[in-house]
Amino acid sequence: MSKKKLVVLSGAGMSAESGISTFRDSGGLWEKYKIEEVATPEAFAANPELVLEFYNQRRAQLAEVEPNLGHKILAELQSEYDVQIITQNVDNLHERAGSKNILHLHGELTKVHSTKYPDLIYDVGTKAVKLGDNCAKGAQLRPHIVWFGEAVPAIDESVPIVNAADVFVVIGTSLNVYPAAGLVMYARNDVPKYIIDPNDVEIPYGLNFNVIKKLAGEGMEELKKRLLDK
Ligand code: APR
Repeated sequence: MSKKKLVVLSGAGMSAESGISTFRDSGGLWEKYKIEEVATPEAFAANPELVLEFYNQRRAQLAEVEPNLGHKILAELQSEYDVQIITQNVDNLHERAGSKNILHLHGELTKVHSTKYPDLIYDVGTKAVKLGDNCAKGAQLRPHIVWFGEAVPAIDESVPIVNAADVFVVIGTSLNVYPAAGLVMYARNDVPKYIIDPNDVEIPYGLNFNVIKKLAGEGMEELKKRLLDK
């Protein structure tokens, strides 16, 4: 029998217990930096060095952190479920925990792409990228990150995935940022839906979610119990 599809929409809270800051919690990244200075195409045009450095720091941090219990349980669940992760996170912790099917809605820190030829994408791992680092055709490289004001190419692919879910889980996202947040409305009415977050999250569209009000690690433990103890 084919496995049931477990589809997960993850956000920054998924990686918080690994030591990566979220964006909108108190002390979050957007309290320390201004979005319009580091995370827009206009910011990159105005001050590319500052923007490159912001992402160089985020990228370097990946070498210092490890996947947490939440990432690991999700990877374990692959033995029971066909797990598809749709993540807003740009870190590589789902991959490093062993999850196989991961769609990055907002890009990946370990990659860069050409400012002139966006299909030229390169792996840089955790290395810094400087002004003057160019693609094969001589154009400056930029972080492979979807900035505010840019299209989210992976959204189209995500809609049918959420729609095909047999179980849908939202974890560690404030659901503030669209179009990612809008994905929740594509889960079918009759499938069990869970939201794991230590804080209250306003669920758009008045949808019916089972709320597991816990941190990612203990929340995933609870979810695993609920899914497998049936
Ligand atoms: N475990 C689970 N959830 C947590 C934890 C934790 N340990 N700590 C915090 N959270 C929850 C918060 O309660 C909040 O609901 O994680 C959520 C984090 O929300 P945001 O900081 O808004 O992050 P996210 O929703 O991923 O942001 C979306 O915004 O700026 C951008 O591009 C960036 O992808 C990001 C997007």
